[in-house]
Amino acid sequence: MSGKVKLLRYLANLGYGSRREVLGLLADGRVTDAQGERLYGDDVCQHDDIRIDGEVLDPAPGLLLMLNKPTGYTCSSKDQGRLVYDLLPRRFRLRSPLLSSVGRLDRDTSGLLLFTDDGQLLHRIIAPKSHLPKVYLAELARDLRGDEAEVFASGTLLLERETRPLLPAVLDVLSPRQARLTLYEGRYHQVRRMFAAVGNHVGALHRERVGGLDLGELPQGQWRLLQQSDLKRLFSPAVHPSAMPSG
Ligand code: URA
Repeated sequence: MSGKVKLLRYLANLGYGSRREVLGLLADGRVTDAQGERLYGDDVCQHDDIRIDGEVLDPAPGLLLMLNKPTGYTCSSKDQGRLVYDLLPRRFRLRSPLLSSVGRLDRDTSGLLLFTDDGQLLHRIIAPKSHLPKVYLAELARDLRGDEAEVFASGTLLLERETRPLLPAVLDVLSPRQARLTLYEGRYHQVRRMFAAVGNHVGALHRERVGGLDLGELPQGQWRLLQQSDLKRLFSPAVHPSAMPSG
């Protein structure tokens, strides 16, 4: 357990209920240590040594997870309709510090979405100076015209209603209507707006990779906790042969 937080507050912060509900769990003797000894609200214990109804606790604060987001889910905790949080355990939405998505994917975009409750880590992942590549597979409504890779790599492309040009991005053409796009920043609806800027329209859009992490075998709609080894991979992406942006 981090710092010297007392059990009552610690469990409430993990989403096990309001203060009153957690007091109820404690009063019913449902919170014990690993040996089955009853614990009390004022106790200060190690995370791994706490059980509720004999079960180990949800992950300690400082968690990082990946979700294979299906289309049709919004990256928000309170919009109408289906939310990405609906795909995570209910308690995760009640945690403090808050578990938030690292950037966003549109409702109609699928693929790799990270979540963390660690603000510094979140910032490190999205900070432009980290230059973490984000790789998207885009299905296009029209045939590519041939100059898109050059335009996207130029570092001069200006999106509508913006004043700062985009960083160079790398386009790999897979077929006339399918392309893989690697971005080193994350602006609002960036992929869709980039293709719109070259007279095309993105239909299906899927994020395959963030940094050195991909979804592996994770099925759509499923999530998994990330470990130290994943974190290391996240921050050590293979450098694309077409080079990363400078600065
Ligand atoms: N670019 C988009 O247009 N949509 C996303 O969801 C992510 C990047």
